[in-house]
Amino acid sequence: MASVRLDKFISERTEYTRSQIKELAAKGKITIDGAPVKRCDVKIDPDTVNAEVCGRAVGNSRFRYILLNKPQGYVCSTDDKDGETVMKLIPEDMRTKGMFPAGRLDKDSMGALLLTDDGELAHRMLSPRRHIPKVYIVKLARPFENNYVNKFSEGLTLADGETCLPARVKKAENSDNLAFIELHEGKYHQVKRMFASVGNHVEALMRVSLGALVLPEKLAIGECMELLHKDVENLFKEADFELFCRRFSAVFSANFLINLH
Ligand code: URA
Repeated sequence: MASVRLDKFISERTEYTRSQIKELAAKGKITIDGAPVKRCDVKIDPDTVNAEVCGRAVGNSRFRYILLNKPQGYVCSTDDKDGETVMKLIPEDMRTKGMFPAGRLDKDSMGALLLTDDGELAHRMLSPRRHIPKVYIVKLARPFENNYVNKFSEGLTLADGETCLPARVKKAENSDNLAFIELHEGKYHQVKRMFASVGNHVEALMRVSLGALVLPEKLAIGECMELLHKDVENLFKEADFELFCRRFSAVFSANFLINLH
């Protein structure tokens, strides 16, 4: 693989900024093969370098993990036969040959979408056995009803007879027509079909978390960012739905409404 600057390599994989990395290097806190490096502009091979910051190893993944805040109007595919794909939204310097969207959002859905060239991770993430929780915010045509909470938690039966795993739902704090839903599976048009089965209709939908990875507020619709290793680990961590709603209800409700046409 092409060589990259040491400070770029470290900043992409840790919480440290480039200026903090420079300071740490000056203090001898950054090492390669155990020897302190004073200059951060040295070129290293990301596949093989053995770098540590403050005694902590910095991972050298061969793969790239991109989080996109998907806008409406793009299909989650690498093939544009059904319309413009999300691949168009990834800047060329972030795209790799084998990159693909790990998971699906409908063409008219928005929100958190992982793109990666790591097939093994994508497989682990999408595996039905793993049940990685995903949270969506939805705009409903009719007000949220409190009886949804029990109905969804018992496991809904969809119009075609298909049954769903128990799911949690909660009305957003400041609107009767906005709600959060947490799913542990990914059936075709699942959120829309679940609300249809209780007599409501999803007018718009945005995915706001994957596992414990929450869509960052600063990531505007249509923008993407490279994930750090700790973010990728968060994909596989359990999240607390109640806490999530308490913490993010106001911010996601506001952002969601701004982005609806
Ligand atoms: N459920 C849906 O109905 N649509 C999506 O895009 C994702 C989940």
